[in-house]
Amino acid sequence: MINVQRHLFKLDTTNTSYIFHVDESGHLEHVYYGHRIELADGDWDALRDKHPAAHDCPSYSEDFPEIKMENLALEVSTEGKGDYRVPMVQAEYNGGYTTLDFVYQHSQITKGKQAEAGKAQAYGSADQCTTLTVTLKDTVLDISLTLTYVTFDASDVILRSAAITNKTEHHLYVHKLDSLQLDLEDDRWDLVTFDGAWGREKQAHRRRLAPGTHVNESRSGVSSADHNPLVFLARPEATQRHGEVIGCNLIFSGNHKEEAEVSPFGKTRLLTGVNSSLLRWKLAAGATLASPEAVLTWSGEGFNGASDHFARFVNDHIIRGTWKWRERPVQINTWEAFRFDFDEGKLLNLARHAASLGVELFVLDDGWFASRNDDTSSLGDWYANPQKIPSGLASLSTRIHAMGMMFGLWVEPEMVNRQSQLYLKHPDWVLALPRRVPAVQRHQYILDLTRDDVRSYLYDTLSRLLKDAEVNYVKWDMNRLFSDLYTENEQVKHMGEFSWRYVDGLYDLVGKLRAAFPNVLFEGCSSGGQRYDLGMLCCFDQIWTSDNTDARSRLAIQEGTSYGYPPSTMDCHVSAVPNNQTLRTTPLESRFNVAAFGTLGYELDLTALGREEREAIAAQIEFYKTLRSTFQYGTFHRQQDGNVVQWDVQSQDKETIIVLWYLKENQANYAQNDILLVPEADERAVYDVFPRQQYLAPTMLDGHTARTIHAKRESLPMECEHYTVSGGVLKYAGIKLHGRCLKDYDAQTRIMSDDGSRMYVVKKRG
Ligand code: GLA
Repeated sequence: MINVQRHLFKLDTTNTSYIFHVDESGHLEHVYYGHRIELADGDWDALRDKHPAAHDCPSYSEDFPEIKMENLALEVSTEGKGDYRVPMVQAEYNGGYTTLDFVYQHSQITKGKQAEAGKAQAYGSADQCTTLTVTLKDTVLDISLTLTYVTFDASDVILRSAAITNKTEHHLYVHKLDSLQLDLEDDRWDLVTFDGAWGREKQAHRRRLAPGTHVNESRSGVSSADHNPLVFLARPEATQRHGEVIGCNLIFSGNHKEEAEVSPFGKTRLLTGVNSSLLRWKLAAGATLASPEAVLTWSGEGFNGASDHFARFVNDHIIRGTWKWRERPVQINTWEAFRFDFDEGKLLNLARHAASLGVELFVLDDGWFASRNDDTSSLGDWYANPQKIPSGLASLSTRIHAMGMMFGLWVEPEMVNRQSQLYLKHPDWVLALPRRVPAVQRHQYILDLTRDDVRSYLYDTLSRLLKDAEVNYVKWDMNRLFSDLYTENEQVKHMGEFSWRYVDGLYDLVGKLRAAFPNVLFEGCSSGGQRYDLGMLCCFDQIWTSDNTDARSRLAIQEGTSYGYPPSTMDCHVSAVPNNQTLRTTPLESRFNVAAFGTLGYELDLTALGREEREAIAAQIEFYKTLRSTFQYGTFHRQQDGNVVQWDVQSQDKETIIVLWYLKENQANYAQNDILLVPEADERAVYDVFPRQQYLAPTMLDGHTARTIHAKRESLPMECEHYTVSGGVLKYAGIKLHGRCLKDYDAQTRIMSDDGSRMYVVKKRG
């Protein structure tokens, strides 16, 4: 709900309020963001900034001696009028001037929010959200700035964006147009970012803000595994479950920059937007440039509270089309099973095994096209390799369908190898500067997606492929970072526009394909999670979380991802051991227990498994399917993160909670009680608590397991540990679980090796 009263703007969601006002000099001053408040007469005097004297800073003008831009909490900031913090908007006019000063003109409130066609934007109906647009104008030049705020009530999210319009007669260069500025009154904040690299995406890092600016950015052309655009400001005392937390994310898949600055007067400024370091956008007379949208939330219930807001927002207002709120199929993926080494016989054999275990989607990954037998060739030539698949894709797909599975295909459309027919025909479509040898990654080059002809070629080629082979799922990969920016596209007026326009080209292309194939499930991938962001989720229903499928590594990767993205979007696979990326051997059941907290898949050669492993997998898939809506669409919570990692996910109706309990490293003579605490339990209810039945066959336990167990050389029964317990005990005291000691094994011993784990089902009694 949005309320405007005499230049006071109050934006409410179910649990939050956001307040700003137009001050006497015409600037938008931020007043409050936090727990929802209702205003009564007299409150304004309490709330308004008293503008304490900030010495040695310019006043806005002789008329407003007490207004020092440097110490205002502002909704938008520019350069040149005495605010020396990082600005939200920067533009250059008349060959070098950068002073701009936006003051209030008018505002408008409308119901609902539509996404523009071909754009990565959030959407919501009139009963879900309200849109406020505030128009400002430079005090001298005919340049206007529109700030848009959309309140999404149920998810406690405020969507923000900005658009600059050049109504002068000359062009401008826009150097910075952030999507959101949030100025907070004090500096008692920790900044949390999600950083990493290939194979270790989204590791959460937390640090106390100090005077100066902390920058979280990507400059590689993708939102990146290095620094995801998701950031939080949290009170130093905030935990997963308690305390004040502000979350911010950007709906954009390219170069981004988040800046958190503590000013000399102890105010905190948060900015997010397209990365300004590489931006120089030529804005013609009469033209408008609109920023991507940013997503803001506040929670008084710690990080879990904020993540819950984001998860609901993504499922309701970002994901779209047929797969919105729809359960995602369990897949088998050929990549780690076969890599490039397969033929039709091998594929069909794998498919038969997969179908018999309950798999629902067969994904043919890299290696199926042209003469692709390694990563040196064929990207760009999207037709089946006649040696590997002589009967053709359509026939393969028919046979997969006949087994009762969906047929999925890997493609990497944005790329080309030099060794390809496409490159021979169109060498000019590749990003490469004349006279410079282009940088290369995985022997591949990037196609110029800013060009209409490139996009229409890709659209035609891919639509033919999807139609002819009756493809039900696409894994859209992107395996290199940008370099050697260059384009012959005349619509790109300056290379400082290129990266942004590339991302827009990608959205346009995928948007058209989705419209033509509305039932296809689209999965995004970029060497794992290099492009796991909200922009991609406007076009892709789910994303491959990481190429690292090691269960232990996945704990941190999936946990980091869960801060901003719901489990339904996170594709997670069980792979073979020793793990391809870490060489670690973890138990098969632990690999499943971790992968189940997302969209489940298998990525190993099922035909090479023994009977016990196959039975275990069949049981895993059956279990997952019975609780799939909870795993994918339940409310995910991070509970413990140390040597023991504990997550849980609660069903929408709150009847069931599934808990992951994962032990990284076992210790000898460990004689402390392991306690299963379930903070989400309802005190008024009684619950049945039992572990999922796991296979404890000797062959499936790793080498650390006691000799007594190996000696039996047969499957062991799971410990018999079933409790009927009140919600209060679960929530506050917890269950003291049986020991994990192996010396005196009995039917209640929890056999736990390194990377041992359990999944507990906590069910309300009828
Ligand atoms: C990337 C993906 C993998 C796989 C390979 C195929 O690395 O992240 O899942 O598809 O490409 O080359």
